[in-house]
Amino acid sequence: MALRSFLFVPGDSERKLAKGDTVGADALILDLEDSVDISRLPVARGMVREYLLAHRGAGPQLWVRINPLDSGLALADLAEIVRGAPAGIMLPKGCGARDVILLGQYLSALEARDDIPAGSIGILPVATETPQAMFALGEFRDAGPRLRALTWGGEDLAAAMGASTNRQENGEYEFTYSMARSLCLLGAHAAGVAAIDTLWANFRDADGLRRDAAHARRAGFTGKIAIHPSQVEHINAAFTPSDEELARARRIVKAFADSQGVGTLQLDGEMLDRPHLKQAQRILAMMAAE
Ligand code: COA
Ligand code: MG
Repeated sequence: MALRSFLFVPGDSERKLAKGDTVGADALILDLEDSVDISRLPVARGMVREYLLAHRGAGPQLWVRINPLDSGLALADLAEIVRGAPAGIMLPKGCGARDVILLGQYLSALEARDDIPAGSIGILPVATETPQAMFALGEFRDAGPRLRALTWGGEDLAAAMGASTNRQENGEYEFTYSMARSLCLLGAHAAGVAAIDTLWANFRDADGLRRDAAHARRAGFTGKIAIHPSQVEHINAAFTPSDEELARARRIVKAFADSQGVGTLQLDGEMLDRPHLKQAQRILAMMAAE
């Protein structure tokens, strides 16, 4: 199964860390950045490292969000937490392939230090958090083999530009942020990696989350960030193909297999051609992916 839900867990919260691996998330993002007060960062680094060491193997994939590469904090974050061999690093406020490659070099050095298989730690950039980053979304194909997925965020981008809000009066994203979402989606698919949708902040609004997640799935995202345990089941459901979808996808694949050499055919009175076959294969692949 592809990774559907990524639950953020503040890296300095004992209670939330304890709860994190019990709520069915496919991955946890142990946070050292915005949800941790700078005064708590040294403590959080140690807690995250211990958590990684104690939870190896079973359970959700464990990712760590470090501080931005230009913050002066990232190297110390990495030096401490790579010892725990996380599945990957979430890179905030990054800028394009260049920053993924730089982070990859740091990881290579630390993997060698800690006897971790070379290249095993993945990278998930939050790819739209600065104005410059918006102009680098088309280049992730050159980011190297550590790149696993792209995600996006609209809050830091708005803050970087002094915008008072990223929403229109009707509650929809302002054009700039809809564009960030689209470019993240396109950039991820252009690079051949998963597109992960941003978070739904109002964690008591389950209906809004379900709508937002369904919208993201229809658009081509395969997963979404969660910030509260109650969001995880809705995200997992939204990004899991239903039995009907799977049955139809199997029928489409079979219909093409039964009509070798035919580019277009009909099923239940509907015209099908290559894009429909590709879409059906993608749905089946969602269930097969690890
Ligand atoms: N991960 C794991 N457990 C969490 C959690 C999270 N992200 N958010 C809440 N919980 C736990 C709480 O600790 C509580 O369990 P407990 O009673 O055993 O302590 C339970 O879930 C219910 O939490 P609730 O009381 O509804 O919320 P809260 O007031 O404790 O926390 C937030 C609300 C928003 C502060 C919290 O969900 C959170 O910290 N989210 C992540 C924030 C983050 O990482 N942001 C960075 C990315 S933008
Ligand atoms: Mg942020």
